[in-house]
Amino acid sequence: MTATAESKRQRGLSDAEVAREVDHLLSQMTLEEKAGQMTMVENNSIEPAQVAEYFIGSVLSGGGGNPTPNTPENWRAMVCAFQKAALETRLAIPLVYGVDAVHGHNNVRGAVIFPHNIGLGASRDVDLVERIGQVTARELLATSVHWTFAPSVSVPQDLRWGRTYEGYSADSQLVGELGAALARGLSGRCSDDGGSVLACAKHYVADGAAEWREDPVAEDAPQQGSTAPPQDSEIPQAEDLSLGQWRIDQGDARLDEASLRETHLAPYQAAIAAGALTVMSSYSSWNGEKLHAHRYLLSDLLKSELGFDGLIVTDWMAINQLDPDYQQCVAQALNAGIDMVMVPYDFRRFISTLKAAVRQGDVAQERVDDAVRRILRVKLALGLFDQPIADKSLLESLGCAAHRQVAREAVRKSLVLLKNDNQSLPLSRDLPRLLVAGRAADDIGLQCGGWSITWQGEAGATTTGTTILQGIRATASDSTDIVFSPDGQFEDDARAAVGIVALHEEPYAEGFGDRADLSLSPEEIALLQRVRGRCDRLIVLLITGRPRIISEQLPLIDALVVAWLPGTEADGLADVLFGDCPFTGKLPFSWPRSMDQIPLAALRASAEAPLWECGYGLTS
Ligand code: BGC
Ligand code: BGC
Repeated sequence: MTATAESKRQRGLSDAEVAREVDHLLSQMTLEEKAGQMTMVENNSIEPAQVAEYFIGSVLSGGGGNPTPNTPENWRAMVCAFQKAALETRLAIPLVYGVDAVHGHNNVRGAVIFPHNIGLGASRDVDLVERIGQVTARELLATSVHWTFAPSVSVPQDLRWGRTYEGYSADSQLVGELGAALARGLSGRCSDDGGSVLACAKHYVADGAAEWREDPVAEDAPQQGSTAPPQDSEIPQAEDLSLGQWRIDQGDARLDEASLRETHLAPYQAAIAAGALTVMSSYSSWNGEKLHAHRYLLSDLLKSELGFDGLIVTDWMAINQLDPDYQQCVAQALNAGIDMVMVPYDFRRFISTLKAAVRQGDVAQERVDDAVRRILRVKLALGLFDQPIADKSLLESLGCAAHRQVAREAVRKSLVLLKNDNQSLPLSRDLPRLLVAGRAADDIGLQCGGWSITWQGEAGATTTGTTILQGIRATASDSTDIVFSPDGQFEDDARAAVGIVALHEEPYAEGFGDRADLSLSPEEIALLQRVRGRCDRLIVLLITGRPRIISEQLPLIDALVVAWLPGTEADGLADVLFGDCPFTGKLPFSWPRSMDQIPLAALRASAEAPLWECGYGLTS
């Protein structure tokens, strides 16, 4: 049975009923209405009245596409205003609102933010990830959002990639299991009958295999004709490029078809079987051919061979990269098998171009009809026609204590203990004094990383949650003197039995996080040395989207814990550091000894073993 058949059954509609309904709607639709359904627009580029005027099928918030002020209530009002406009159209086809809820409903201030996927990969806990899907669905529905561009089922092969943390693991099997679990959790009906949420497996396919390129291509730069180009800050600058930005992301995956299928395709099969009704195509290429125009991979393989009967949506403005001529872009993408286009700015231009392409025979009417059928089928399967606006009472549960508990559990289970000499961990609750250093020890924004409130993420008190330091203070006994210094410049005489240093990567998303070098910076090394000189045991916490090169500093460190990007509930760290819960996490990626063991192919070819193998993790 196909995934859509499964969902339709859950919602009480038989296949025949859905097919009849789809046919009935399609038979009444004009080309204008069909083109509108195939259009996804970003929220700041359209007004509700235009949703009705152009029969728009979907609106999205990109990373940071938040209402002002950013409150759950304003989110709901924003989404509902678009939905009400869609329902006023002649055929009253509901729109589906999409967001990147990639670790909880992460754009919404006050929502629970879970560890990024790499941390969940370390937990290897399928049941936990399914529950995370359920909580995320409930928080999404509280704001009446019915679609999230998650799970990412990338299988990252190169730790220099800025999207490494969005992948669960380099182990394709584990990626498939956890991606499927998230899809199940998202798409299962919420117990309080708020409806359910569409999952989107991305980025199809082999985005994690893109290779490092010497000449950075700023593919995210504004494209010709866009009405709302990215701000200057979003365009890579020369000095950023020297760090290695945009060297992997959106690049070319060079590998044979057998490897593509075995490593990168398999998790899609798992996620689709688990209920993912949508798939997002990747900016990247396969052996030089862009995925967005790849008929073999999109239509022959995914739709025909695997029988995927949901919809394929593009990535953000991705079709603009296909050809200098926009009509060619539209035709190539649709003919390859794309069903909905994340335009996302100039929707009028997209719609008129699509209509022209059909009139001129560049795109067959049957292809348009197939795309619209898929879109309508997904919307019906989701139950959107019955309940286009989710239950308002769910707002009460957004960010609630029960949801935060699940995130705290996830944090505990994501921690990996890499070194623990002299039984430095767990910590005693009754230490007379504890030195804590590193900005990330007391910063919600840093512990959340990219895709948190804003697209790139940022330092500071960006949302509600608990910092690592707050967790430590709440757990240690009242008699422990906890001294915190962000830069480790303690008073002259400050010494303690135990010092904790949190090291972090500055937040990033996508190609902005591509990095040539993952070694600790001179500032980080200096911080380690400063605190080392003041304590008997040095505990290091790594707040990071990926393994860092730390071999040379290891002798300075008594206990090393990688906490990944834990999200808002960092009290989960204290639970484990003080021994209330055990360390159980295992590395989801091998940990390289040096940059010479990156990417994975180099590690496989290396004469030396990695510092720690994938699957390594001490217990306490
Ligand atoms: C990213 C996708 C994301 C989309 C919408 C793109 O830049 O590659 O992962 O879903 O933006 O925000
Ligand atoms: C993000 C947006 C961002 C855009 C810039 C997208 O992937 O989701 O938030 O503004 O890229 O091009």
